[in-house]
Amino acid sequence: MKDTGLVTATEFLRHPSMVGSAFPATGRMVRRMLAPVDWSTIEVAVEYGPGSGRFTFAMLERLRPDAKLIAIETGAEFVEKLRAATEDPRLIVVEGSAEDIGRHLVDCDLDHADLILSGLPFSTLVPDDAARIMRATAVALAPSGIFAAYQMRTAIRPLIERHFAALRHGYEWWNVPPCHLYWATTARPDTRVGSAPTRGG
Ligand SMILES: C[S@@+](CC[C@H](N)C(=O)[O-])C[C@H]1O[C@@H](n2cnc3c(N)ncnc32)[C@H](O)[C@@H]1O
Repeated sequence: MKDTGLVTATEFLRHPSMVGSAFPATGRMVRRMLAPVDWSTIEVAVEYGPGSGRFTFAMLERLRPDAKLIAIETGAEFVEKLRAATEDPRLIVVEGSAEDIGRHLVDCDLDHADLILSGLPFSTLVPDDAARIMRATAVALAPSGIFAAYQMRTAIRPLIERHFAALRHGYEWWNVPPCHLYWATTARPDTRVGSAPTRGG
């Protein structure tokens, strides 16, 4: 996708708390964020807030030919650009909120995600929305799944720790702004019990 960063900057000016940054992610941060993932095991990947698609296209390069990538984005402008940018049949771009991940998976006839990557600015989201998104994330992930997130600030950390038993942290300076990187696994059992939407249910 041709991305001059203009769409990101414009959308940031229109919705600063939802977009979080006026600049798309750098190639270096994308590579670092995606490096710990074992792509041979990922059948269903989900991306929250793909924005200009920097992570989306890097994920498509790494995903298996039979995998699916569900990209969930609230910004209509981003959705339109992303849909126009590729005909890759593995990519499904959903206009909606990450909060409804369970329903979006069901709509795509999928049970769970093996990987959820978040670009959402958790520190500027309404706290109740952030808490709901994190809970829905832990429910939507397969037991062996991985949740990955990049963030300017550390507000997301207690939310992750509430729902995941294992957490790795890194920091990437080469991005505007520099970001904390998180990789979480092992969703806590109390999060998962009885919460998942089901197909046809
Ligand atoms: C920091 S930007 C992502 C930047 C992107 N990774 C890039 O490099 O271009 C955050 C994105 O999350 C989207 N967003 C905010 N709240 C959302 C929500 N609840 N569900 C889905 N997307 C959301 C925004 O519209 C924005 O595109």
